[in-house]
Amino acid sequence: MIVLGIESSCDETSVAILENDNVKANLISSQHFHKQYGGVIPELSSRAHLQQVIPLIKSAFSATNLELNDIDVISATAGPGLIGALLVGLTFGKSLALSMKKPFVPVNHIEGHIFSGFLMQEKPEYPFLCSVVSGGHTLLLLVKNEFEILRLGTTIDDAIGEAFDKVSKMIGLGYPGGPLIQKYAEQGNEKSYSFPIGKSKNKYDFSYSGLKTAVLREIQNIETTENLSETDKSNIAASFQKAAVEAIMRSVNLALQEFEIKSISLVGGVAANKQLRNEMVLLGKKYKKNVVIPDIEFCGDNAAMIALRGLQYHKAGKTFPLSSNAYPSLPKDSFMVTE
Ligand code: KG4
Ligand code: ZN
Repeated sequence: MIVLGIESSCDETSVAILENDNVKANLISSQHFHKQYGGVIPELSSRAHLQQVIPLIKSAFSATNLELNDIDVISATAGPGLIGALLVGLTFGKSLALSMKKPFVPVNHIEGHIFSGFLMQEKPEYPFLCSVVSGGHTLLLLVKNEFEILRLGTTIDDAIGEAFDKVSKMIGLGYPGGPLIQKYAEQGNEKSYSFPIGKSKNKYDFSYSGLKTAVLREIQNIETTENLSETDKSNIAASFQKAAVEAIMRSVNLALQEFEIKSISLVGGVAANKQLRNEMVLLGKKYKKNVVIPDIEFCGDNAAMIALRGLQYHKAGKTFPLSSNAYPSLPKDSFMVTE
């Protein structure tokens, strides 16, 4: 089976070609120009996707020995994401499917992340615990099989990636914050500040707004007498990262004591974080579970995970009308999470 995947939910245009779960091409064009605005500008994002999608498709085919006619299935992200951005990839995918008379599978972006571990050589085994850590979502899931996912916890306020981005902005490091916070944290002392780890009623839920406010208060404290030094920035970054990572580790640790699972998977943009990756591997060793964390290119937004999820639906015999639309947030009925 040859699958073409298209991802355009936010600020990455990506096109992938898969032969079953084997990635033949996974091209990602990141819209770095948003940096100057401190965040993603939706209209500019849509225009950039429009400019990028056709050249990327051409480059993806040039990178393989395949031609457009070899494609068996076409899939594209339908949501959640920025509506204008989503519409570019989705409409392009649907039009291509219509003209080529091929099946089209609209894919939920979060489901793409959840199953991204299956792009790796060593795959998760069902049932597995999945920690989804991205710019828009923080979820702890029990994945029983391809189409049965139990949501154990979610964030009650900010997502973890959002917290990295906001703290980065507060200390003047820029956007996207995750990699910059990680870089500064490497020079800092994580014990400099004792930032709180968010708690909520459901033991598996997450909260990042208290942590963000505590960081802001500390910055304001320092700035009453002096400007933030590079050392202050590094120490804040390290102490923040420690608390942010600890919240994820605590939830996975608790779930490991309650549920019989075979693997642990860590996915989403924040899964690129070195400290989080290292701690998850250590936890897996402690509980003797295999830990699957995608390579960095498959942690952030990418079309390979969209193509793979599209293939899973197609193989399961699920069909979708070309009238399927884009959606900005998670609709309950298209994300098979039962609480
Ligand atoms: O999954 P993703 O690419 O997009 C969404 O679906 O949201 O995640 C993007 C998020 C951003 O918040 C970015 O700051 C964060 O992932 N991120 C990181 C790292 N690399 C990217 N956060 C922490 N450490 C990193 N190394
Ligand atoms: Zn994502």
